[in-house]
Amino acid sequence: MYIPNNIKKISPFKIIMVKSATGALLGTLEIKRNSKIPLYRQIEDKLRQMILNGALKARQKLPSTRELAIELAVSRITIKSVYEQLIAEGYVKAKIGAGTFVSEGLEAKKPLIPELKTVNEIFCSKPLSIAAERISLSKASTSYGSIMPFRPGVPALDKFPLKKWKRCVTRAMKEQNHSYFSYGEPTGATDLRNSISSHLVDSRGMQVRPSQIVITSGAQQAFVLISLVLLNLEDTVWYENPGHIAGREVMNIVGAKVKPVPIEEEGLDLNYAIRNYPSPKLIFTTPSHQQPLGITMSLSRRLALIKHAHANDAWIIEDDYDSEFRYKGRPLPALSALDNTGRVLYVGTFSKSMFSAVRIGYVVVPEFLVEPFAKARNILGQSSSPVTELALAQFLSSGGFSEHIRKMRRIYHERKDSLLNALQCYCGDTLSPRKTDAGMHIIADLKIEAEDWAVHKSLLTAGIDSLPLSIYCQEPINQSALVLGFANCSQKVITNLVCEMAEVLRKF
Ligand SMILES: Cc1ncc(COP(=O)(O)O)c(C=O)c1O
Repeated sequence: MYIPNNIKKISPFKIIMVKSATGALLGTLEIKRNSKIPLYRQIEDKLRQMILNGALKARQKLPSTRELAIELAVSRITIKSVYEQLIAEGYVKAKIGAGTFVSEGLEAKKPLIPELKTVNEIFCSKPLSIAAERISLSKASTSYGSIMPFRPGVPALDKFPLKKWKRCVTRAMKEQNHSYFSYGEPTGATDLRNSISSHLVDSRGMQVRPSQIVITSGAQQAFVLISLVLLNLEDTVWYENPGHIAGREVMNIVGAKVKPVPIEEEGLDLNYAIRNYPSPKLIFTTPSHQQPLGITMSLSRRLALIKHAHANDAWIIEDDYDSEFRYKGRPLPALSALDNTGRVLYVGTFSKSMFSAVRIGYVVVPEFLVEPFAKARNILGQSSSPVTELALAQFLSSGGFSEHIRKMRRIYHERKDSLLNALQCYCGDTLSPRKTDAGMHIIADLKIEAEDWAVHKSLLTAGIDSLPLSIYCQEPINQSALVLGFANCSQKVITNLVCEMAEVLRKF
């Protein structure tokens, strides 16, 4: 950059007085030398602003390029390119032999891009949309953070068969030609829907046609689609309490009346719900493995729930998020397998069985709902990546998926037992872990007089990411407990971590 000799040292925020006719005004032209915005852009923006807000008047002469370059201590080439740009945009006009002048008829116009301060002022005076206000009240986080031990719901990412997956991705890429480098089908790739349908028939006891499956970007998007397509303002939703947090938030945001239904030994307390909140439009449930309490809904409760939904024209969401992981006997058939009324919307995800970055889930709906779901999906962001969809179809049909599940079932079983043993051994005086035969987390009741929230916070500072049971509750329940994910912790580290936990807990 050219710096004239007579200017020795320039502060990064120096305001420079320009001595020409426009000098007094251009004196406010502040340039920041340590800014990421190039100098030419800063000068251009300032001049545009001054012209638009009338600080530089129509027909007013600008300093010569030489003058301004010296005054601002920048190269003359920089100023020349600024002037050329402003001439091209019509802000100023060059008159040969006379100089550069501000164009006419511009001063009334407001700046196109207001300064940040002005932007904030504008938005502060305008309230957010009702939906955005509801979103800001939600527990949704704006960052994911790093994965720490015992965070519930995180699978053993290092055990995923990367080589096999890579082969599936490569094959999906090979099978494609460039015409496939476009948006995919809003309902998902046919191959993937076929593979998922076979998987559901084989392992969940369901009768599903591929045409009933709508692929989504994870289970969460399925909840969004269901809420948009089936819920109206003020509709009543029965929601498990405690229950899956993010699903509840969506239903709140669309303006439904989300009602907490307690969980008892057989699952969702149907009598309580009927007594307190008649005529639900939608019922959210996790019958295979209640999130987070881990209860499996009894057969009689399943049948009663379907019967009630049918008689009352209600939909049931069956969130089957981690049913692959049962450690005693075979996985139970889905609630959906008992339904011959078409009331159950079955939601599945590959976030737990594989890894959440794959961002693929699905919802099984009656045929007549496929079109509204596909349209809603299209509007919400088209499709998932067709390459990932084909790779996943390949992973499922080649047997890679079921092999992975079998392996993980064994590993998770061992990890679960290690965690239970370690908790009994080292935290016996402070925690009472509940036995479980399924899933990827356990619940440990606090034996000490402390809020689970406070315990969670203290454990976080020790690098342990258990969640408090209360975070899953819409209405407080009389239980203080920690939710501990065991899937992503090797047996080796579990004992050490539990010893550290014991120390933190002893301080309460
Ligand atoms: C109960 C439950 N359902 C579904 C999901 C999966 O959501 P997604 O498929 O959008 O990752 C989770 C994730 O944590 C969950 O806990």
